[in-house]
Amino acid sequence: MSRVPLRKALADLPAYVPGARVPVGAAAYKLSSNENPYPPLPSVVAAIADAAVDVNRYPDMYATELTATLAERLGVAQESVVAGTGSVAVLGHVLTAVCEAGDEVVLPWRSFEAYPIAIELAHATGVRVPVGVDGRLDLPAMAAAVTRRTKVVLVCTPNNPTGPAVRDDELRTFLAAVPRDVLVVLDEAYVEFVRDPQAPDALALFAEHPNVVVLRTFSKAYGLAGLRVGYAVARPRLATGIRAASTPFGVSHVAQLAALASLRAEGELLTRVDALVVERTRLLEALRAQGWTVPDSQANFVWLPLGDHAVTFADRCTRAGVLVRPFAGDGVRVSVGEKEATDLFLEVAAEHAPR
Ligand SMILES: Cc1ncc(COP(=O)(O)O)c(C=O)c1O
Repeated sequence: MSRVPLRKALADLPAYVPGARVPVGAAAYKLSSNENPYPPLPSVVAAIADAAVDVNRYPDMYATELTATLAERLGVAQESVVAGTGSVAVLGHVLTAVCEAGDEVVLPWRSFEAYPIAIELAHATGVRVPVGVDGRLDLPAMAAAVTRRTKVVLVCTPNNPTGPAVRDDELRTFLAAVPRDVLVVLDEAYVEFVRDPQAPDALALFAEHPNVVVLRTFSKAYGLAGLRVGYAVARPRLATGIRAASTPFGVSHVAQLAALASLRAEGELLTRVDALVVERTRLLEALRAQGWTVPDSQANFVWLPLGDHAVTFADRCTRAGVLVRPFAGDGVRVSVGEKEATDLFLEVAAEHAPR
């Protein structure tokens, strides 16, 4: 057994629990990881195959073509775009770039389960602000939680796992209240699924507020979760710091070319997103018709606040052939997937409906 001591903080680190996977050879729908149910487009598969022949070489370390393409589309300077191994890695690099030991990071809770881990690993202290019973971030309470020790505030919109997006007016009020030397991270992993007309335009807020960083990903709407590519949009000085804290060569050549091919096929991919939004509405309406209280969702999942029944309900779903994601004592998150998966899930939900 190794006698090398581990960092003490690791003992208290919450484990990231990945969504349940379909066992080899079993037939089940995987609605447990907020993935895109559609397989990659043929043009994306072709780009992946083309890129494969170059994998004896290191990739372009700064993903130059990808960052240039994104910058042009987003209307920001190329120096402002930092790509990384999924937006979860980019978040870690953002925190490492700005946090000193003991700094505080204000975060909504419950929210994305990677946040507390990334905060601890950056030697910072998380300050959790409860999400409302309606699944909405409490931005006034988050602003009130900012102290002289606060270095970063994480704003997850739409919030994983509860679903709602923040509103533009409340986010503007929040940004006006937060000191300019506190970084505000707008995590928009699901932005392409947002249909709420009151939702913010994060890039407009980025243009107005030098302390705003926007995080986005190719994992969800673009269906490239398995290739790991996400990015931050930050002011050039911050972006340079994030790049300095990043894992070198974090975005593989295959991932870069797949992301570029996905941007070329964006119309087709966003049509799929539209179909998933239709399916989300069907799922939400059916659950409400069954008597469930379900928060609004602007993402590719819905949240059932099941409290202590979360795990038993998820087990029942597994037995029915649908894998969902329970958060013990709190609720169950169900991703929007294939129509057949929704139907199967709704059958189980009907059996357990509150009325
Ligand atoms: C809110 C939020 N942010 C970031 C991510 C990370 O996405 P990725 O690392 O695949 O880009 C996720 C994934 O589930 C998420 O829910």
